Amino acid sequence: MSFERSSLRHLRGGVVSCCLLLGAACAPRETSSPDASDEDTTLKGAYAEYFKVGVALPAMIFMGGDRAAQKLAKAQFNRITAENEMKWASVHPGSSFSFETSDAFVRFGQRNGMEVHGHCLVWHTNQPGWPFQGNRGPATRDEVLARLKKHIDRVAGRYDGKVAYWDVVNEALEDDGAMRRSPWYNTIGPDYVEQAFKMAAAAAPTAKLVYNDYNMWMPPKRDAAVALVQRLQSQGIRIDAVGMQGHYRTAGEPSLQQVEEAILAFKATGVEVLITEFDIDPLPYAWDKLGADVNFTVQQREELDPYVRGFPPEAEAAHAKRYADLFRLFVKHSDVVQSVTFWGLSDDFSWLNTWPIQGRTNYPLLFDRGLRPKKAWFAVMNVARECRAGRCELPEP
Ligand code: XIL
Repeated sequence: MSFERSSLRHLRGGVVSCCLLLGAACAPRETSSPDASDEDTTLKGAYAEYFKVGVALPAMIFMGGDRAAQKLAKAQFNRITAENEMKWASVHPGSSFSFETSDAFVRFGQRNGMEVHGHCLVWHTNQPGWPFQGNRGPATRDEVLARLKKHIDRVAGRYDGKVAYWDVVNEALEDDGAMRRSPWYNTIGPDYVEQAFKMAAAAAPTAKLVYNDYNMWMPPKRDAAVALVQRLQSQGIRIDAVGMQGHYRTAGEPSLQQVEEAILAFKATGVEVLITEFDIDPLPYAWDKLGADVNFTVQQREELDPYVRGFPPEAEAAHAKRYADLFRLFVKHSDVVQSVTFWGLSDDFSWLNTWPIQGRTNYPLLFDRGLRPKKAWFAVMNVARECRAGRCELPEP
């Protein structure tokens, strides 16, 4: 199997042709029904009555370096996140700011009527070290707070009215519920989260403000995140949503019940729930750590990279079923789930080809390396059809 991007004539995938998925301009479209509506051909159309469906894009796609990928993203999704291009290291690498790429990202969303999600203002990684250094030794709390304020003022302020949601703080919690000892925590102290949300509310009064983290289904972490939301609320600090990063696997935890319990726990605090960074990793793993700690790495071993020559049909079917089950759950809670955003467009763009092991061949997304829809895409589209017809029961736990 070749993994090169195929020419359009090869982009045909089962019942619905890829040409149709990519939009009307692409021909031929023999296998598609001429009057197929958006709800049968696009994720955003299929789920329009429930929630927005988003995708994280790299500059390569939103700046037009890969035209076919850009076309597919525009056709299928109505919400976007920049995979890296709004992080501190991208927009504020040294003492001056660099907005060329993030401006292009926001423009891309606006021109195409997509909701723009800003990711992220405060994180412990993709973060240069200079804000934490003073003239002689570590910077003081006040110095770091002043730098953080300048960052949030300039970045969130620049896009006020354009960025609909901001991940204000990303990954402040450990899996056991303790606060992560990040450079922000170590220099400012535990109230850095409150400080950041206050600064964001002032800089971007029209954006919804989000706390985003992985493993939010783990009870200690879920409870700590609920407490964090309530701590802000009790001080009158605005927080509008919780982002549950959906870095899951085909098999094992979390169960649907664990994900559901987390959605309900956040709903009870009165905030919206966003399913962010959704991808389902079908590859085997040989470590205990679940989630998406970007600093975690594992040595490459042949048995951990079994699908180099292609995704076996049984593995693909199990992967598709897992997606379908989770989408049924998200529809069930669409009163509070505002959006579901994939962490990548197609398998070749996924960060899971390089994390936590460099250089594996992974298959976590809904489109393959030729931008063809996979079984998971058909399964997710089918769930929407069933739900719209009032038949979308969750499987028994
Ligand atoms: C990842 C990107 O996908 C990679 O390209 C980058 O090298 C590291 O960051 N949690 C997050 C995302 O909040 O920003 C991370 O994205 C994945 C885990």
